[in-house]
Amino acid sequence: MTDTDTGRPSDELGRYLLDRGDMTSDWAVPFAAVPRAAFLPDRMWVWDMETQGTELHDKQDDLAAWTRAAYRDAPIVTQWDDGRHAGSTAGRLATSSASMPSVVLSMLRDLDVVDGVRVLEIGTGTGWNAGLLCARRGEANVVTVEVDAQVAATARTALGRAGLRPAVVCGDGAAGYGVRAPYDRVIATVGVRSVPYAWIEQTRPGGIVLTPWGTHYSNQEALARLTVDEDGTASGPFLRPVEFMTLRGQRLDWGRFSGHVPEDYASIPAVRRSCVTLAELTGTAQQFVCGLRMHRCAQVVNGRRVWLFDMDSTSWVLAEFPEEDGPPLVRQLGPRPLWDELLCVLEWWRRGGSPGPRHFGLTVTPNGQSAWLLDRANAWVV
Ligand SMILES: C[S@@+](CC[C@H](N)C(=O)[O-])C[C@H]1O[C@@H](n2cnc3c(N)ncnc32)[C@H](O)[C@@H]1O
Repeated sequence: MTDTDTGRPSDELGRYLLDRGDMTSDWAVPFAAVPRAAFLPDRMWVWDMETQGTELHDKQDDLAAWTRAAYRDAPIVTQWDDGRHAGSTAGRLATSSASMPSVVLSMLRDLDVVDGVRVLEIGTGTGWNAGLLCARRGEANVVTVEVDAQVAATARTALGRAGLRPAVVCGDGAAGYGVRAPYDRVIATVGVRSVPYAWIEQTRPGGIVLTPWGTHYSNQEALARLTVDEDGTASGPFLRPVEFMTLRGQRLDWGRFSGHVPEDYASIPAVRRSCVTLAELTGTAQQFVCGLRMHRCAQVVNGRRVWLFDMDSTSWVLAEFPEEDGPPLVRQLGPRPLWDELLCVLEWWRRGGSPGPRHFGLTVTPNGQSAWLLDRANAWVV
């Protein structure tokens, strides 16, 4: 978004979101009433899609540039490394942010916030999404849970300045917030690897749980829209690909793989294997679908090298792709033949017409979760 002589950057962003259909007209009034900039810190890191990095903006240094950045359709990192990182450089892991406006408004659209509903949000962050919900449903009908005490306090202050006082609860959102249950809608603005059953328990039958969901295989998630059933299960389709930060408590501990690969791994014989290309392995659909089918396997892409690690044994794979398209050089070690498994999954996916996230769905029960392709009769544990 850029500021032009036709209006303020916030108005421009609003028109852009309406034109794209990300924002439905019923959200236009809350959007205008709850300005995103009012929820952003003076110093913030704006995500740049092109460079896949962040750009620092400081309100004290350049107010105009900061304001334009606030109304760009981009995610803005507001905390690094769970608050342990200070200073103006980017930290290692982004741990709180203002999500991308097109993602925020399209999620609110899909949440179906009709009159009368009570909403639980998991992941308060800046408080902007909670503010929009308050403007739509009134603060008495909105509860938001944030795990980080400092982030929760800052959001509470920003909401208060905007004249909004929803319940901002500091705690682990995996437990929901039973005190104010039941809810008609649960929206998570943080990604899960396993849908906490508390969210289903605390939602009325017929209610909706909307959450970014993915596997430890990669960062590629999809938005799951689950409808809660009378029998205490919840089920529904994935709507589209998204990428969020992972719920604290469900992050992958990469240290668990530190003993997988021996230091002299380069001396292990490598074999040129199959004609899969790097692009085929790393496409959005492939990353998501391989995660669904490669149970408890984590993938790391580092330039033209792809690593696979088994979470339950010391099995690993390193596939090195040549600069020119061609078969990778593959090292595969351990009891679980991950590379062979991956090729089978890709073959299954191609034969099935290369389905994307929206062809799959998820069912959650008190005993776990299962994914399915096209219909629930064809489900497997994830
Ligand atoms: C992408 S941000 C949320 C964006 C936010 N809704 C907004 O409008 O700015 C994700 C937030 O989820 C929080 N979070 C992570 N794990 C959590 C957990 N277990 N319970 C509650 N909040 C959590 C993070 O601290 C972070 O602030």
